[in-house]
Amino acid sequence: MKYSRRSFLEFLGKGSVVGAASFALAPVLHACKSEIISPGPVSYDAQVGFKSITVSKADQVRLADGFTQELLVKFGDPISDKDYFGTHNDYLAFIPLNEDGSEGILWSNHEYLDPVLMGTYAPAEVKTIEQVEKEQYAVGGSLVHVQLNAQGSWSINKESEYNRRLTAKTSIPFLWDDPIDGSMEAIGTFAGCAGGVTPWGTILSCEENTDQYYGEYVYDEMNGVVIDRLPGGYGWKKYFDYSPEHYGWVVEINPKTGEAHKLVALGRCAHECATMHQLEDGRVVVYSGDDGNDRCLYKYISHKPNDLKDGTLYVANLEKGEWISLKYEDHAILQEKFKSQTEVLVRMREAAYLVGGSRLNRPEDIEIDPVTGAVFISLTNNKPKGDLHGSIIKLTEDSEDKASLTFKTETFLAGSEEAGFSSPDNLAFDLRGNLWFTTDVGGYTLGAGEYDFMPCNSLFLVPRSGERAGELIRVATAPNDAEFTGPYFHPNGKYLFLSVQHPGETSSSLEDLASHWPEGGDSIPLSGVIVISGESLTNLQHV
Ligand code: FEO
Ligand code: CA
Ligand code: CA
Ligand code: CA
Repeated sequence: MKYSRRSFLEFLGKGSVVGAASFALAPVLHACKSEIISPGPVSYDAQVGFKSITVSKADQVRLADGFTQELLVKFGDPISDKDYFGTHNDYLAFIPLNEDGSEGILWSNHEYLDPVLMGTYAPAEVKTIEQVEKEQYAVGGSLVHVQLNAQGSWSINKESEYNRRLTAKTSIPFLWDDPIDGSMEAIGTFAGCAGGVTPWGTILSCEENTDQYYGEYVYDEMNGVVIDRLPGGYGWKKYFDYSPEHYGWVVEINPKTGEAHKLVALGRCAHECATMHQLEDGRVVVYSGDDGNDRCLYKYISHKPNDLKDGTLYVANLEKGEWISLKYEDHAILQEKFKSQTEVLVRMREAAYLVGGSRLNRPEDIEIDPVTGAVFISLTNNKPKGDLHGSIIKLTEDSEDKASLTFKTETFLAGSEEAGFSSPDNLAFDLRGNLWFTTDVGGYTLGAGEYDFMPCNSLFLVPRSGERAGELIRVATAPNDAEFTGPYFHPNGKYLFLSVQHPGETSSSLEDLASHWPEGGDSIPLSGVIVISGESLTNLQHV
């Protein structure tokens, strides 16, 4: 997709920050553009003038001193005269439309749905087509034109031509030369969890837990023939018998047109995220994790500049510190078990194990440190293996070259009661390279048993520099049952867009609601997007 790559990079380089901040913006730009990593903001001291907040069972978003919040949009809000905002928003990306970023297009993944809270719950046998179609509309993604007014408040420009929905009904072609299970296009996208942006200003949305919608195939290990199909919990297949192989891809979306395609070259799994880096010669590197117990970590390297079709996919072996190719020609075992490279990509999980991919503890979000170039990876947890609280690891490519096929890893932070956090999920670096992360302890386990020290999910900050460098600071706590997802900093560093996902997910019925966020009273809980700002955020970044 051709879309103003230059202007996107130029914007990241300019922003609307003033004066001394320019030295800190350079690493952010270089992280997108160049393999040469800036030495970082040496004269910068993170000024953290607020205290870490305590945990809470309050049914609200609580913030540390000096931060403010506003609700930008929630499930069901009209975004145009024909469309409304979907549910269970996760990944967010802000693509600026002007030089100072006071207007932009906000992308939101709508990951999954809660039939109880949507009023569509019914056993699969009796579910109606109307109920299924209501659910199909609620997932996918939203593009909304957002704007900042003079008072520093964000709103949606409902008249904008950019406002549109992608849903489970949208036709999306595969970016590939061969059909996928007999078709060159899929009907719909859903299960979009985290994601990424490209240097050319498009959005990557990662289809994660897709098996609940149209089920999943079971293959004969010897000959690859489909021998069974697991049912999806939502009961959609009765009316729409779409191939499970059409989901589980990374989807690229042009924010200005809504045009999208599924990137077969990045393989099929429960993709959590797709985090991109551009090499000096213009080729791109994409890191992605497969969020499941004992699942693998992947890296794609394109053969040509700005290309997401023609490249080589690798899986990580952490014990050896090696990226192992998933190329059909490179491995006799792949030729024995699969018919083609396309089949390897469709059944990437099996192929990854065959060539020696390391089994990790739910690799979730990935972000590249804008100062050092290290690759940070959340490993949320792996309960069957006894890892209840997860960790954040740091992967350093040899020679600081993202095209390297060897690397080293170390643990950056390990979750535990003593450490004060559990189950890290989404990561974000701010303008100054301070690390922010969110936690994902499930609604049913929050505050229970081994998770008694985590009665709520949280947003944490780890300052890079200053007197409190390395300290774990809880900046925000989430409403009942909810997790924060999709943290995305506005390019000027003054605003953090943040999803509040699945408040009240333990509600057993509309008469027994576990949360009333965001509207309070007796209202049905709704996922939504908040914008965090305030002097504590601007002071932290000297903007
Ligand atoms: Fe949708 Fe892996 O979180
Ligand atoms: Ca996630
Ligand atoms: Ca989640
Ligand atoms: Ca998660």
